[in-house]
Amino acid sequence: MSEGLVTASYIVAAVFFILSLAGLSKQETAKNGNLFGIIGMTIALGATILNPSTTGVVWIILAMVIGGAIGVRLALKVEMTEMPELVAILHSFVGMAAVLVGYNSFIDLHPQAINEIVVAIGSDLDTTLATAEAAFAQASQAQQDSHHLTGAMLNIHLVEVFLGVFIGAVTFTGSVVAFGKLRGLIPSKALTLPHRHKMNLVAVIVSLILMVQFVQTGGAITPILIMTLIAFAFGWHLVASIGGADMPVVVSMLNSYSGWAAAAAGFMLSNDLLIIVGALVGSSGAILSYIMCKAMNRSFISVIAGGFGNDSAASTGEEEVGEYRETTAEDVADMLRNSDSVIITPGYGMAVAQAQYPVAEITRKLRDLGIKVRFGIHPVAGRLPGHMNVLLAEAKVPYDIVLEMDEINEDFSDTDTVLVIGANDTVNPAAMEDPNSPIAGMPVLEVWKAQNVIGFKRSMNTGYAGVQNPLFFKDNTQMLFGDAKDSVEAILKAL
Ligand code: TAP
Repeated sequence: MSEGLVTASYIVAAVFFILSLAGLSKQETAKNGNLFGIIGMTIALGATILNPSTTGVVWIILAMVIGGAIGVRLALKVEMTEMPELVAILHSFVGMAAVLVGYNSFIDLHPQAINEIVVAIGSDLDTTLATAEAAFAQASQAQQDSHHLTGAMLNIHLVEVFLGVFIGAVTFTGSVVAFGKLRGLIPSKALTLPHRHKMNLVAVIVSLILMVQFVQTGGAITPILIMTLIAFAFGWHLVASIGGADMPVVVSMLNSYSGWAAAAAGFMLSNDLLIIVGALVGSSGAILSYIMCKAMNRSFISVIAGGFGNDSAASTGEEEVGEYRETTAEDVADMLRNSDSVIITPGYGMAVAQAQYPVAEITRKLRDLGIKVRFGIHPVAGRLPGHMNVLLAEAKVPYDIVLEMDEINEDFSDTDTVLVIGANDTVNPAAMEDPNSPIAGMPVLEVWKAQNVIGFKRSMNTGYAGVQNPLFFKDNTQMLFGDAKDSVEAILKAL
């Protein structure tokens, strides 16, 4: 394959990626969007392997087979509710790849220095480090003296390497923490270390100083090594200090970071396609984060700065807030039969219980009885953007009765019955009523304005944000305890 053909293939692949993003923006066209993405990636991989300047093709194919096998296995095994965790850990791979590409470019600048270090590794640590420092200093000088990369070009390349490693390292540890929080390995509550914002600021300033030093020394090893450690700690702290309810924004923000890390790797490798794809992912992730911040009434800057501005003495929200009333499936069936209008607000629990199929069936049955049934979808219900829409579409619930929060929030006061199926944070009135709540200010589905509310869950446990929900203690709310699927099936039977 000629170089020209490779470039042309890259352009075609880039067009497919743009079409893919456009397709993924609507439920009806999402399948096509996925298909365009697959075609684009196939063209990109094919052109890269057939590129005449590509060496070690056997290694590349071997890595692709191993990676592909792991990917297929993971994709087949993963539950829908575990998708955000999978996405988070995949982002960490992109981050680590950018770090490795950065170090590889760095080593490329100093090949003879690496040889000297390898020889010195047999001796003690001090000697090895001293040899490494001296060898890199000498190699940097040789680099500048040679005509390979000099002056402004060398400086630009060094900045690329430094920024690529920085963004990659932040993305790596940030994504690992996000994975841990989503999987429940790390508490989802925000870590609030004293002076945390100052620490973040210091990390950024010190990294900038190290970058200047790195460029001035023509690429010495000490500044980039120290910066890498700082960036790892910075990424960890940035995500650890963001509370559970803001995790959706963090996941899409890490998506954006991983895009920028890929773009940085593209600059280092002089690979135009990687730059384009990285920029597409980076900017679409940033736009999604912005949209989510708006939907959750959060400041974009506050979230990307590690929860900056959330220092108010937040109540833990764990305290009980009164007495709750229990009901039975038969009573709920009676209540539904006597209703003219019903709204269902699904949440994470519906996904866990896989209750979307009986929910779709109950919807059909009620509509057949002449009852108006609609769905109210909160933008962050579940664990990934569009989670509820995907589940309901899977169960063949008609699109036109599935409404976004903004479209339905005004209608709750004219509604007879609301079924809150496995939702908690997204229907929590504390977000509007308690300024000290960790979710204060987040818009929620105002279900408590309806005549009757039925809460479907297994216990009085809190939702993802770890905040108690006063909705479940209100006079017009009754609790139907149990697995959401079992409860909905029991109502279906009683109807
Ligand atoms: P949550 O607030 O997480 O509440 C889910 C509720 O479902 C829990 O209270 C749980 O109570 C119940 N539940 C769990 N398994 C169940 C089962 N088998 N049957 C019946 N109920 C079950 O859900 P939400 O309202 O959808 O809110 C989403 C939360 O996740 C928000 O805080 C959001 O910020 C966060 N988040 C969202 C995303 C995205 S992008 N959507 C990503 C990460 C985090 P019991 O244990 O008592 O049953």
